[in-house]
Amino acid sequence: SNSLYLKMEKILITGGAGYIGSHTAVTLVEAGYLPIIVDDFSNSDKSVLNGLKTILNQEVPYYEGDCNDRALMKRLFTEHSLKGVIHFAANKAVGESTAVPLKYYRNNVGSLVVLLETMAEFGVTDLVFSSSCTVYGQPDELPVKETTPRKDAESPYGNTKKICEDILVDVTKSAAGTRIISLRYFNPIGAHPSALIGELPLGVPANLIPFVTQTGVGIREKLTVFGNDYDTPDGTCVRDYIHVLDLADAHLKALEYLTDKPGSFYDLFNVGTGNGNTVLEVIQAFEKVSGKALNYQIGPRRPGDVEKVWADTSKISEKLGWTPKHSLEDALRDSWNWQLALAKK
Ligand code: NAD
Ligand code: WQD
Repeated sequence: SNSLYLKMEKILITGGAGYIGSHTAVTLVEAGYLPIIVDDFSNSDKSVLNGLKTILNQEVPYYEGDCNDRALMKRLFTEHSLKGVIHFAANKAVGESTAVPLKYYRNNVGSLVVLLETMAEFGVTDLVFSSSCTVYGQPDELPVKETTPRKDAESPYGNTKKICEDILVDVTKSAAGTRIISLRYFNPIGAHPSALIGELPLGVPANLIPFVTQTGVGIREKLTVFGNDYDTPDGTCVRDYIHVLDLADAHLKALEYLTDKPGSFYDLFNVGTGNGNTVLEVIQAFEKVSGKALNYQIGPRRPGDVEKVWADTSKISEKLGWTPKHSLEDALRDSWNWQLALAKK
């Protein structure tokens, strides 16, 4: 109702038209918040806003622009009294980051600095930041704990996440009343069960699940499994695949955890299921939920791939009370239904 709408606390979602940001917008509205999106649509489509409107039965306010644009950010903070910020906006293509590293340093690191300066100017204290399991590289211990040392980044993209984490630590040490949580996502997959929003890769997908569903629907002829001679149960790489709605819920829990922290505060959490699955297990689960035989072949290893990584999730479960609710099959079913809906558009 309108009166409830007016009471809602406002949360800025940078990159809110993107894959994880759009699902988090849904979760925030369902929890009684009013998300405000800023996105330059460099890696997303305005149709996402229609999907959000249909799911939520209300418009989500959005600003089109670059969050490196200081004037735009000031306008946004002037026009809205913000309770907190979730900073998703970044470029995330690992391969591209090697070819054009400065694009990544400017966008991923630059936008965080502009955001933190704007937050300080307007007295907004609470921030949740999108980090990545990529900061662990191939860890020496499994499952990976938050205390497991980070490795030298394997890509400029990964390095931007390490640098951003370090910036956040320094800022919370220096400024009284800055409350920040970094969430290190493992491999986000799945889509909203309505099939109205989901992952929208531009061009040939680099990530496994969009490649699988595009192959299933016939956009791609076949999937190549990148290597089957790793030291894993079936020789293919192991990852921790987490449903994007569980990930969205972790942002809500993180924001609410920050609310009552006195003074400055920094913490970081892994967000994964705690389980590792091989590429072949993912293919089998996809075949089961879709009822389709997937055309795939074993190919060579992909340079730079981590052999195996999955999360220890005890910290986030103990401190934020967060546990994942969706299985691998749930996530693959939702990804598949989203792919089928896209094919009908
Ligand atoms: P995404 O590309 O779908 O979403 C990012 C959104 O930010 C896009 O809509 C893009 O248009 C927008 N954007 C980029 N730069 C911008 C800028 N300067 N100003 C305004 N908007 C901008 O990616 P995603 O998968 O939703 O990822 C969100 C965050 O999570 C990113 O920071 C990413 O690095 C991080 N992350 C993603 C994964 C993953 O596998 N998807 C894993 C770990 C961490
Ligand atoms: C998953 C598995 C591939 C495609 C990337 C980023 C990382 C993080 C998450 C942002 C691997 C295999 C894939 C294909 C395959 N993102 N695969 N055939 O490599 O875990 O991580 O996304 O922070 O930084 O590097 O994800 O989806 O690319 O691959 O066999 O066509 O699927 O080898 O084992 P990855 P992915």
